[in-house]
Amino acid sequence: MNAILLVPLLVARCIAVSDYSQYVNVFTGTENGGNDFPGVARPFGMVKLGPDLLKTGADSYSGYLKDGNFSGFSMMHEQGTGGAPKYGTVSQLPLVGTISNPSSSITVGRARPDSGSLGYYNALTSDNVVVELAATSRAGMYQYTFPASSTINNVLIDVSHVLPSFRGQGLGQGYAGGDFNIMPDGHYEASGIYNNGWNRSPNWTIYSCGYFNATPSAAYAYSSAASSQKSKSASSKSSSVAIGGLYTFPGAVVSSRVGISWISKEKACQNVNSEIPSKTTFSSAVQNTKDAWNSQVLSKITTTATNTASLKLLYTSLYFMNLLPTNQTGENPGWKSSEPYYSDIFTLWDLFRCSTALLHVVQPVVYEEHIRSMIDIWRHDGYLPDARSSNYNGRTQGGSNADNVLADAYVKGVRGEINWDDGYAAMVKDAEVAPSNSNPDSMAPDSSTKEGRGALPDWLAHGFITPKFSRAASRAVEYAYNDFSLYQVANGLKKNDAATKYLNRSRNWRNHWNPELSSLGYKGFIVPRNLTSFIATDPLTDSGYWGDPYYEASSWDYSFGDLHDMATIVKRMGGKETFFKRLDTTFAVGGNPKKPNGVIFDSTNEPTFNVPYLYNYINRPDRSVFQSRGVAKSKYNTSPTGLPGNSDAGAMQTWLLWNMIGLYPVTGQTTFLIHSPWFASMAIDLGNGKNLKITSTGGDGNGDTNYYVQSLKVNGKNWTKCWLTWDDVFARGGTMEFVLGSEAKQWATGDLPPSPASEPGA
Ligand SMILES: *[C@@H]1O[C@H](CO)[C@@H](O)[C@H](O)[C@H]1NC(C)=O
Ligand SMILES: *[C@@H]1O[C@H](CO)[C@@H](O)[C@H](O)[C@H]1NC(C)=O
Ligand SMILES: *[C@@H]1O[C@H](CO)[C@@H](O)[C@H](O)[C@H]1NC(C)=O
Ligand SMILES: *[C@@H]1O[C@H](CO)[C@@H](O)[C@H](O)[C@H]1NC(C)=O
Ligand SMILES: *[C@@H]1O[C@H](CO)[C@@H](O)[C@H](O)[C@H]1NC(C)=O
Ligand SMILES: *[C@@H]1O[C@H](CO)[C@@H](O)[C@H](O)[C@H]1NC(C)=O
Repeated sequence: MNAILLVPLLVARCIAVSDYSQYVNVFTGTENGGNDFPGVARPFGMVKLGPDLLKTGADSYSGYLKDGNFSGFSMMHEQGTGGAPKYGTVSQLPLVGTISNPSSSITVGRARPDSGSLGYYNALTSDNVVVELAATSRAGMYQYTFPASSTINNVLIDVSHVLPSFRGQGLGQGYAGGDFNIMPDGHYEASGIYNNGWNRSPNWTIYSCGYFNATPSAAYAYSSAASSQKSKSASSKSSSVAIGGLYTFPGAVVSSRVGISWISKEKACQNVNSEIPSKTTFSSAVQNTKDAWNSQVLSKITTTATNTASLKLLYTSLYFMNLLPTNQTGENPGWKSSEPYYSDIFTLWDLFRCSTALLHVVQPVVYEEHIRSMIDIWRHDGYLPDARSSNYNGRTQGGSNADNVLADAYVKGVRGEINWDDGYAAMVKDAEVAPSNSNPDSMAPDSSTKEGRGALPDWLAHGFITPKFSRAASRAVEYAYNDFSLYQVANGLKKNDAATKYLNRSRNWRNHWNPELSSLGYKGFIVPRNLTSFIATDPLTDSGYWGDPYYEASSWDYSFGDLHDMATIVKRMGGKETFFKRLDTTFAVGGNPKKPNGVIFDSTNEPTFNVPYLYNYINRPDRSVFQSRGVAKSKYNTSPTGLPGNSDAGAMQTWLLWNMIGLYPVTGQTTFLIHSPWFASMAIDLGNGKNLKITSTGGDGNGDTNYYVQSLKVNGKNWTKCWLTWDDVFARGGTMEFVLGSEAKQWATGDLPPSPASEPGA
């Protein structure tokens, strides 16, 4: 962007909300598997406009790679996901000079590293074209500055463009045709059909509508089936025929406004013309996006902290957790409904542990709409989503974890316009009706990975899952958690028989518990089993993938997984002292002699998110502080390599935010575990004039040292429990006043956090 243009604008503005966007580094977590999306977007925006880099052999999950060639700058991306790329659709690519074959999958090199800030992206191609990007919710703006000497300045619109996958898992996206039309006034309208990607979706269609601010010297639609013809429109019903358009401009500066829609070309044009009217300046588009983030998202958490690195971590994390899901209300091609509609849920398996609970706190309106939308998806598609993109459920990695998200909302009193009878019926469908497996997943053909609980036949028949089903051991851990969630809602709705049944079922993880299996001297692990006996496994090395007994984490990890029954887990692991040592062993360097890094705890993935906090279940929050703070301070920073693993739609970032806040949610219950806050003061805006204010004295103000709690007051009263509930500090707001110090103190002398599925005396 032209900095000279921005200065008078900034000076002239009367700034009501502080500019927290200055602390957001959009390149955080874009490398080393973080897969963060560095392009431009509004909070929960349908458009995520950013670069698409092509490098043979390297999947670009959110479009960006730090190396490779530009294949386009496209309007649709996910945020921080792994698995296989999705979208990279609706693109433009600026090119200099005569283009003889526009359908030849042209790419262009990168002249210098890209740069950007919240709402603004800048790249320089090897043709010396500056590309600048800005976005609204359903439209985007491109500004191209071609070299002054050049008079053949092209913008290529390749309808066949998608992000490819090189992983060879059969999850590569396909293009299945489309059309491209240059209208009498010079703007273009297009549609494209695509399929597959990580969620294995069938054909879906996106419509687009693009305008240029300059008059082209030439513009034509192309088709690879008839490359010599230059007409005003092209269409194809075949994956092998690429179509698109080429606009050529004589002048150096060209900007383009593009809208997208899931409904129609007309709607795509409406979206761009209402959100980015023709007279919109590029700098105002950038500024409006900054303003939206400041007022809707970043100002929700404020602090007196002055450490710039921590402020950057705080606001960068808040930013990346508010890109997904996508608010597609009014843009649902599947059915007409007065309910809100959210897609790009990627995925609840990643998000249910701590992200949806934070979304509830900082975005209560989005959260309620998201839950209504999930219930509406069940109404019309038959099942709640565990993941969803391009308006299609999938893939389900473990349990039906929307159940946990719904239960969390229910027990915390979220009512609003949610129809809880329907919400509960949707959960019962998950718990009672196995999804059909009409399109088997080649990576796990035994049962549906689209939705619901594929291994339900075994779970219902036996109360455990046999090796007939993949991921049997880890799915059992999750199904038990899901059943507890059903119990919570059934209980609240006074469905007493159902509540009794599901509470009982929520204990079925115990059927996979082999009390004799020993690892590193600790006994008792979740194991695979068949009808008659346990099956041998090595808890240190049994972490697997889709076809294995444990999905993406080991028996060491999954054995801690059922938080609703922690008292039983502590007892079965040998009681408080052994449980303490066993937790310590998961964090010990050299604790896992079978792994190169020697640590059992896996900071790179979600299944172990809860583990550092489990010391609270034996009243040792000091140790939860020690372990979780160690992870937070050593594994996270705002550099491009600053995330330990895939962001997963912001799941990693929310784990870090809870560490800063000093609480950790137990999803499906009203419980929050207390550890220790980073800052001397933090205020969370809970909406409707309510606040949670968290202060601390005696710490270093940045959470690096002196982080042990000495004493705590909640709402002005001495507090001796290492947990509190939603009602205590969130429902009406509240205060938490910590006194911190350098020595671990056994301040928690009150009742243990609840273990509602554990029998009394467990
Ligand atoms: C990358 O772009 C450069 C310059 O535009 C080109 O010479 C090269 O062939 C491209 N590489 C690939 C792999 O497409
Ligand atoms: C996907 O769309 C193409 C037309 O572009 C069509 O040929 C193909 O049959 C469609 N596939 C399915 C499964 O509907
Ligand atoms: C979601 O999008 C719809 C349609 O644009 C809008 O009315 C609604 O307010 C949005 N939700 C939130 C929480 O912003
Ligand atoms: C609880 O589940 C077990 C099977 O796991 C079953 O034998 C028992 O009858 C159930 N009890 C109730 C009260 O449903
Ligand atoms: C169950 O597993 C055990 C141990 O691996 C094995 O010996 C036995 O044959 C299996 N039984 C069945 C019915 O598959
Ligand atoms: C609250 O705790 C402080 C020390 O942490 C103690 O001095 C004080 O007496 C306590 N107040 C009550 C009412 O127990």
